[in-house]
Amino acid sequence: MFENLKPLDPDPILGLINEFKADESSLKVDLGVGVYRNEQGKTPILEAVREAEQRRIREENTKEYLGGAGEVAYNQAMIKLLFGTDSAEVDNDRVRAVQTPGGCGALRVLAEFLVRCNPDATIWVSNPTWANHMPLLGEAGLKIREYPYYNYETHSIDFDEMMETLSHVGKGDLVLLHGCCHNPCGADLDETQWHALAKLANLKGFTPFIDIAYQGFGDGVEEDAIGVRVMANHVEEMVVAQSCSKNFGLYRERVGTAFILSKNTKQADIAYSQLLNVIRGMYSMPPAHGAAIVRRILEDEALKTMWMGEVAEMRHRIKTLRVELVKGLAASGFNRDFSFIERERGMFSFLGLDPEQVAILKKEHSIYMLGSSRVSIAGLNAGNMQYVLDSITKVLKND
Ligand code: LMR
Repeated sequence: MFENLKPLDPDPILGLINEFKADESSLKVDLGVGVYRNEQGKTPILEAVREAEQRRIREENTKEYLGGAGEVAYNQAMIKLLFGTDSAEVDNDRVRAVQTPGGCGALRVLAEFLVRCNPDATIWVSNPTWANHMPLLGEAGLKIREYPYYNYETHSIDFDEMMETLSHVGKGDLVLLHGCCHNPCGADLDETQWHALAKLANLKGFTPFIDIAYQGFGDGVEEDAIGVRVMANHVEEMVVAQSCSKNFGLYRERVGTAFILSKNTKQADIAYSQLLNVIRGMYSMPPAHGAAIVRRILEDEALKTMWMGEVAEMRHRIKTLRVELVKGLAASGFNRDFSFIERERGMFSFLGLDPEQVAILKKEHSIYMLGSSRVSIAGLNAGNMQYVLDSITKVLKND
């Protein structure tokens, strides 16, 4: 029966990792996948993670089944991290959380749950959005439509157009929002815009679905949770998918969380029972290791402080690289303003190159980025910055 299958192209993001590995150029630069790299081009294990991991290995005394929700103490710690320590919604027992295999696991579990709530639901996603949102949400059965978001000319959010489109979305449908550090464009909603969206959600009745995979990479761990907190303060129901891949550097350990905010405790309990049932039918229960590390960090004051410092270091490095990139591009003498890169947040920005220029950068200069010209800023460093700038200059000069 396998002869009926057609071969598929590699994933547009993960496929680049292999292409980059196979490239033998000593000058090659990886600006593709969203993985943090330090000045040496490495993705180090955070010190707080190393310490928590050693403690875990010393303390672990069983490999017994964990249960579908994962580690309860991890879930509680993640609720505090995202909703804050003084959340009325948490105090009123309206929030439930389950540990998931990464942010992707959270997105898929929530999508399956939402299809149970409404088999005809449409989810509205920003144009553009992360490529993997489509299979994760669509293959669960949610219909996908787009709302305007990033304006490639002005390099800012088309907020009025976004609001106009979303004003036609009603009860039973969902709106996917990036909690912070928008992937792929780096243009984030400000607090006023989050308030306006929360008001619209209430007025029209749609359910917000927030994806937050970069908490701490924008303006700070607390600051980046503002969108989730504003929304939670105003709406009766919402869901949130969270990832620990980037801010804890736990990419391969697959640690994430799915949150549900319900109208009241009774509804929260019902939703939670459905969530556990979805999980049982998909993968039964999440892996233990990564979440046990995160829980130890968040529960221990000294480890948490160490972790916050390491997140700040990653955030500052990315911000500094943004400034240097803009400075370098300005010095190249183009009649183009790249200053938007400095204003954007998180790991990604579009350079504004066309697919052909992106292809030339890959083929002739061994510089890898997504076809949309999304670059992962942390792939830059003092050793490759000038080479990248010179290569972009060459490609743009032929424009
Ligand atoms: C990215 O957008 O590059 C990351 O989120 C990694 C991934 O899985 O796509």
